[in-house]
Amino acid sequence: LKDCAVKIAVVGTGYVGLVTGTCLAESGNDVICVDNNEKKVQTLNEGRLPIYEPGLLELVQRNRKEARLSFTTDLQSAVRQSRLTFIAVGTPQSDDGDADLSAVWAVAKAIALALKDVPPGPPGSRVVVVKSTVPVGTNARVAQILAENGCPHVDAASNPEFLKEGAAIDDFMKPDRVVVGVRKPEVAEALRELYTPFLRTERPFLAMTPESSEMTKYVANAMLATKISFINEMANLCDKLSADINDVRRGIGHDQRIGFQFLFPGPGYGGSCFPKDIRAILGMGRKVGQPLGMMQAVDDVNEAQKQVLFQKVRAHFGDDLKGKTVAVWGLAFKPRTDDVREAPALVLIDSLLAHGAAVRVHDPEAMENVRATYGDKLIYCDQPYGTLEGADALAIVTEWQHFRTPDFEVMRRLLRTPVIFDGRNIYDQKVMDQFGFTYYAIGRGK
Ligand code: UGA
Repeated sequence: LKDCAVKIAVVGTGYVGLVTGTCLAESGNDVICVDNNEKKVQTLNEGRLPIYEPGLLELVQRNRKEARLSFTTDLQSAVRQSRLTFIAVGTPQSDDGDADLSAVWAVAKAIALALKDVPPGPPGSRVVVVKSTVPVGTNARVAQILAENGCPHVDAASNPEFLKEGAAIDDFMKPDRVVVGVRKPEVAEALRELYTPFLRTERPFLAMTPESSEMTKYVANAMLATKISFINEMANLCDKLSADINDVRRGIGHDQRIGFQFLFPGPGYGGSCFPKDIRAILGMGRKVGQPLGMMQAVDDVNEAQKQVLFQKVRAHFGDDLKGKTVAVWGLAFKPRTDDVREAPALVLIDSLLAHGAAVRVHDPEAMENVRATYGDKLIYCDQPYGTLEGADALAIVTEWQHFRTPDFEVMRRLLRTPVIFDGRNIYDQKVMDQFGFTYYAIGRGK
């Protein structure tokens, strides 16, 4: 066992907290992860994960074994031992669309109460770092909560996280940049030291005010979501004008000002970040009287896009789907995750069920999460081919790698009618023609 004091507490063991804590332990720090969900903590203490994220389990197990990483429900003790306390709790969308910050406020207060009788040190010696995605002004309020609850000597800092689910470890270990929002150079220095092991390859460490740092996170996600809604709108126009968005993408992407990244049309973006963050930025604009027409359009286009696959199903089969069976491949909002929050697949499934279709589903990781909501309304198949038995069509919603090169001969044999609705444009029209499929994709002319 290590004999030096634990230096970091991470409050919240969701995606961001768990990845942050684990990767900081991996770089040699002593990390205690805190969660108020006892079951989650117990699962983690048994060396298992409450979520699926490639590579994370191995890292958690190794760092636990080497005593750099532990899990507890005891916030007070974890915070008192730590120089840096990260807040990585959820900021879900509330009913009015704004981010619900109640967990952030509660944790900030609990941290203050834990530290209020600890003798003050020099600036930067105790820092509360907000990693959750939070509206501009949240850090200022956290600093105020700390001060009001006996901790004017504890600093607050912003440090947004830019990781992608499914590639979270790599994103944390090799960030494009690290952004921190601070008011004192000593706090910037403490955070720079922490991130130095991850910034070997000339990746910048960018210190700015907490307001700019908080804003950076939203602007990054707003830009990415805008790219997706833009290409989806263009794809829908391609459909009507018999153009192929795949060719158009190639045609524009070589212009380096445009590029190829994040311009894949699909069934709309989902997940726990983009939909929530776009609505939160809209809320921020509303509050200060700044209209954000473009962000509203990004959200509207995305809501409509989640219906596009179903519209194609309806155009093919008609309104009444009673007696029809549709197979769905891919339920998670994207590959390499089991996360189904705001997943386009669920919107398609709801529409199919509402119009009387039977639905047979498969996803390599997300089946249990879907079963928790849909119970026996769906038929769950362990293998992708199993969904096709007696189905009238296949809809592909998530582009898991092994869906890309299936045995088309077997697929055609299993399907009652050979119809594919491809929400991710993963097949070639020529191959589809060769195997005799009726093939609908996104933005490729029909
Ligand atoms: C997103 C951002 O990419 C991260 O940089 C950010 O840190 C994270 O949100 C966050 O705020 O925490 P994530 O939600 O994990 O990450 O997933 P993405 O890979 O960005 O995909 C989001 C959605 O956009 C998926 O539904 C995906 O299918 C869709 N998408 C993505 C497209 O439809 N087309 C594309 O070209 C790219």
